[in-house]
Amino acid sequence: MAARRLSSLFSRSLTSGSASKLLSQGRTVSRFSTAAATEKLITPSVDIEYTRLLINGHFVDSASGKTFPTYDPRTGEVIAHVAEGDAEDVNRAVAAARKAFDEGPWPKMSAYERSRILLRFADLVEKHSEELAALETWNNGKPFEQAAKAELPMFARLFHYYAGWADKIHGLTVPADGPYHVHTLHEPIGVAGQIIPWNFPLLMFAWKVGPALACGNTIVLKTAEQTPLTALYVARLFQEAGLPPGVLNIVSGYGPTAGAALASHMDVDKIAFTGSTDTGKIILEMAAKSNLKPVTLELGGKSPFIICEDADIDQAVELAHFALFFNQGQCCCAGSRTYVHERVYDEFLEKAKARALKRTVGDPFKKGIEQGPQIDSEQFQKVLRYIKSGIESNATLECGGERFGSKGYFIQPTVFSNVQDDMLIAQDEIFGPVQSILKFKELDEVIRRANSTRYGLAAGVFTKNINTANTLTRALRAGTVWVNCFDVFDAAIPFGGYKMSGIGREKGIYSLHNYLQVKAVVTPLKNPAWL
Ligand code: NAI
Ligand code: MG
Repeated sequence: MAARRLSSLFSRSLTSGSASKLLSQGRTVSRFSTAAATEKLITPSVDIEYTRLLINGHFVDSASGKTFPTYDPRTGEVIAHVAEGDAEDVNRAVAAARKAFDEGPWPKMSAYERSRILLRFADLVEKHSEELAALETWNNGKPFEQAAKAELPMFARLFHYYAGWADKIHGLTVPADGPYHVHTLHEPIGVAGQIIPWNFPLLMFAWKVGPALACGNTIVLKTAEQTPLTALYVARLFQEAGLPPGVLNIVSGYGPTAGAALASHMDVDKIAFTGSTDTGKIILEMAAKSNLKPVTLELGGKSPFIICEDADIDQAVELAHFALFFNQGQCCCAGSRTYVHERVYDEFLEKAKARALKRTVGDPFKKGIEQGPQIDSEQFQKVLRYIKSGIESNATLECGGERFGSKGYFIQPTVFSNVQDDMLIAQDEIFGPVQSILKFKELDEVIRRANSTRYGLAAGVFTKNINTANTLTRALRAGTVWVNCFDVFDAAIPFGGYKMSGIGREKGIYSLHNYLQVKAVVTPLKNPAWL
């Protein structure tokens, strides 16, 4: 398949004339707008070389020979055609992973050797991080600076972290009653099926692949249909790092075909999923109806961000803005219900609106851009529908509310005030740049309201009062509570949801439990009476 290139030549200031000349040479992709083309872009050079499925150490076409298009969300234009896996490809990938687990070296390899392969991989990622960040932005639309400066370093960090765990996983000796020696072995589960979303294609890969490999499992991973490219690129780096064939298999494709085949496969020993709550329910059902494989789910959220009356308002505005708008609002843990104490509400609102109006939207490859396009037409339409619903339910539209520009999937940073708990925009996950500001009076009241949601992924608290912070951190029913900070994601910090936000925890020591079986081994002590 012909490689496409996002050329470093774009980093020059181009007139539209020279840009089209480059395009005619087939060496660059189209640009976001004529205006953007005259600005200084910061695009490094990257080719799309890996578009086929990775099965048993080989990049292969799908069994059906079918491909699907993948897009540049800046323009909606196709940037590559990717092999489309379905049930037959999943069968092949699972067979390869099974063989690599049952007969291959991976689970039997010394933990130290496994750790060294993960370290080598992380080092290779650091070496290629510019190209990877460019590919991530090209396929996802997130600001290049965010991908390059925050996400790629975190991606490498996650693998350094899990490399550290690989040779530190061990069981216990158990003081059982009677003349027995009892110990536990912490063994890998087997073949792990993993289904990831498109909002953080590489980081979601790391959250799942890191612990599974550290524990000695083999993997079949299905990427999101919107963002198949970076996982295939890093899979090649895994080969270079010495990962044996069949240990990591990647099947690009759609949810109801490839995803469903994986979740309901009889020879997959565990399934891990990140995405919508609706799809999470389907995955759980497929796991139950097939071989009862254990399931971990990281699902949607409607996370409250609570600004107390003693808060520094300028800081609170900035943090609440970040909590919601980061990554185009496409975060499962977005602080999407901004509760503000009535005494500081008016000042907060005025400043929050001013901040949103200042947000820089545009080509994510441009320096200083805070917000790129939404991932695709479906998400773009969904967000616009929620904005319409907010207006119709009589929330006050303070700013934004419409498409930004005329090309691609950009949406204006949008702020609603006067939002009530029963409005759809305060209940559903919008997954876009839409901030909903709600007023509260009493601490007990805001606790009750913050918790009255089917979700429980995260929460934010902004206060200088330690008693208020302690009260809120204990009362909020959420898997993470950030106090005077938000979106702090170290590799060691566990993440996951209460209620319909999920099952289980990822990252940190807790994530290892998802990929280990505990075996109790019981041996009589010497000279038992019956021997
Ligand atoms: P989705 O949950 O449908 O898709 C996520 C992953 O699941 C993708 O890889 C997809 O191919 C796969 N999938 C979809 N249907 C499947 C099925 N029947 N069986 C197996 N796998 C399946 O999410 P989608 O449609 O991309 O976005 C819808 C909404 O989900 C978003 O608007 C947002 O609210 C939420 N979402 C939440 C994410 C999170 O980080 N928790 C990430 C992405 C979306
Ligand atoms: Mg879906």
